Amino acid sequence: MTNLILINKKIKPFKKKISISGDKSISIRCVLLASQAIGRSKITNLLESEDVINALKAIKKLGINFKKVKNNYFINGLGLNGFKPNKNIVINAGNSGTLARLIIGLLVDYKHKVKIIGDKSLSRRDFSRVTEPLKTFGANISSRDGKLPVIISGSEFLRPINYVENIGSAQCKSSVIFAALKTPGKTNIKAKKSRNHTEILLKNLKLPITITTNKNYDLISLNGQNNFDSFSYNVPGDISSASFFLVLTILANNSELIIKNVNVNLSRFGIIKILNKMNCNIILKNKKKYKGETVADLYVKSVKNIKSISCPANWNSSAIDEYLVIFLVAARAKGISSFKKLSELNKKESPRLDIGLKFLNSIGIKTKRIGDNIKIYGNPNLKLENQYVIKDFMKDHRVFMMSCVAALTFGGKWKIYNKDSVNTSFPKFFKILKKIGARFI
Ligand code: S3P
Repeated sequence: MTNLILINKKIKPFKKKISISGDKSISIRCVLLASQAIGRSKITNLLESEDVINALKAIKKLGINFKKVKNNYFINGLGLNGFKPNKNIVINAGNSGTLARLIIGLLVDYKHKVKIIGDKSLSRRDFSRVTEPLKTFGANISSRDGKLPVIISGSEFLRPINYVENIGSAQCKSSVIFAALKTPGKTNIKAKKSRNHTEILLKNLKLPITITTNKNYDLISLNGQNNFDSFSYNVPGDISSASFFLVLTILANNSELIIKNVNVNLSRFGIIKILNKMNCNIILKNKKKYKGETVADLYVKSVKNIKSISCPANWNSSAIDEYLVIFLVAARAKGISSFKKLSELNKKESPRLDIGLKFLNSIGIKTKRIGDNIKIYGNPNLKLENQYVIKDFMKDHRVFMMSCVAALTFGGKWKIYNKDSVNTSFPKFFKILKKIGARFI
């Protein structure tokens, strides 16, 4: 079977209710934290995508057993020192920056050598952003010029650190928090705002973590080497996966969608703030708290008069994985949209800023770029009739799904390669597309 999708028809008007798969960031964190708990944790609605499966395989290699019963994963943690001794372990993180970066944090006290590898996309990404702070804990780490493979062989003497995280990367922050869990004494982190699932989970596990929130920074302190009990967790829907369906509905004709049970944590809320500022009127209903996270149903409708936006740079981290689909909405807006300081986008699974702009130009949308600041010249009458071939995007799952949304709403005849890329984060993508009436081959 060829690994591509053909889309030749726009989606017809629809009115549907869907559920979205479990949040990827939370799923990976739950697997890793359950591996450190004492006893059997139960995780429900865990995202079953390649990134999360690779997390399960990683803990298994380190001697942690798990099994699946119905919609639950049971993980038998053996405490903070519970990884079984084993020589020459190789962990393949596949496409997942989150798994690779977070698990290195958990390995700072492991007595044997572990090699972390990944796929082609992960192997071009920077790991010095985590290896450097972890070295200051006393961890023995080497890498190939800051890239994978990273080799970690524990530490002779772990000591707590004071660390300033100024990229706004939750992966860096979480890797350091995980290392702090293993380290005696108090680690202090001053972190530029980024998703805060790790902190929320640790708070729920009653670990001695304190968080002081300022406008742009959080101050986090954690006392290490405290064992914690196993836990139950029901993973809410992933707003990053939901974003493809939000934008599909906004750009379709006369359509309405309800997306049930989505995590709307403020540190992930940028997509809703941005789209609503562009006149999209996404409504939250049944809002409730779940173990420190906020969950709600999202109500969205097609929008005829999308407005352009001048997007504040301090919203970037809360929408970091959603910019590709946001660019599609800007392409249909009346007026010129501007986005600033987007250099981090080029450090994702593919260089998403470069690819996103190239994509917009290929469908006739004018863009202007100065450094990492961009302008998108919207066209409310955007209608496509030509043929479009999308390939060479490093199998980036989000580039693939964004291209499908464009094809289903702007028209034209599309051939989009690497359809199996969705397995990274959202294997149910096609099933849900079909449910709302999309036609593709
Ligand atoms: C993630 C954090 C973000 C995001 C990634 C998942 C996480 O990366 O892009 O998809 O789970 O912590 P950075 O922390 O590097 O910005």
